[in-house]
Amino acid sequence: MSYRVAVAISGRGSNLVVLLDALAHDDVAEVVLVISDRAAEGLERATERGVAIHRLADFRDGAEWRRVLTSTACDLLVLAGYLRLVPADVVHQMSGRIINVHPALLPRFGGSGMHGARVHEAVLASGDMESGATVHLVDEAYDRGRILAQGRIAVPVARSAATLAAAVLEVEHRLLPAAVRAAAVAGHPVPFVFA
Ligand code: GRF
Repeated sequence: MSYRVAVAISGRGSNLVVLLDALAHDDVAEVVLVISDRAAEGLERATERGVAIHRLADFRDGAEWRRVLTSTACDLLVLAGYLRLVPADVVHQMSGRIINVHPALLPRFGGSGMHGARVHEAVLASGDMESGATVHLVDEAYDRGRILAQGRIAVPVARSAATLAAAVLEVEHRLLPAAVRAAAVAGHPVPFVFA
């Protein structure tokens, strides 16, 4: 039986699209639901591909989350550019079965408010020569759960937030499908080696 994946988004959904494409010819896992807290562009990408969507009436309402996750029998919840905290009761119910992709090398450059250009601006301001993407388990706080894998890149010579974001996004697009495949094979999210 295929591993059933829900993906939560808040924006354009490029990570969602690469995940859908990566799993399109794969029996190991299937995206069965896309959840959003807002009218995100990524919801349109999901609908075009025939994937069920759910726009949350109240992103703070754990009962609403649990209802949709249970009704679609999800094994895994993937946060792919989802900008809110997942309610604590949902984190507890899905303990060890929620992952997030973050566009920096956690535990640095994460936490509340660290999303989008702010992450890359902070990396550039730090003077670090390296950045990358992290996939980690989700707990009740932003960007804090156990790290499962990271992909690293050299900070581009141009050193603008936009060029760094584009380079990191390319890593995210390979890292996230690898994380979902590893979880599907193991039956739950696991640390894995990402080359
Ligand atoms: C990605 O950089 C993701 O890591 C971050 O938000 C961005 C979302 O991009 N949390 P997209 O919506 O998947 O295109």
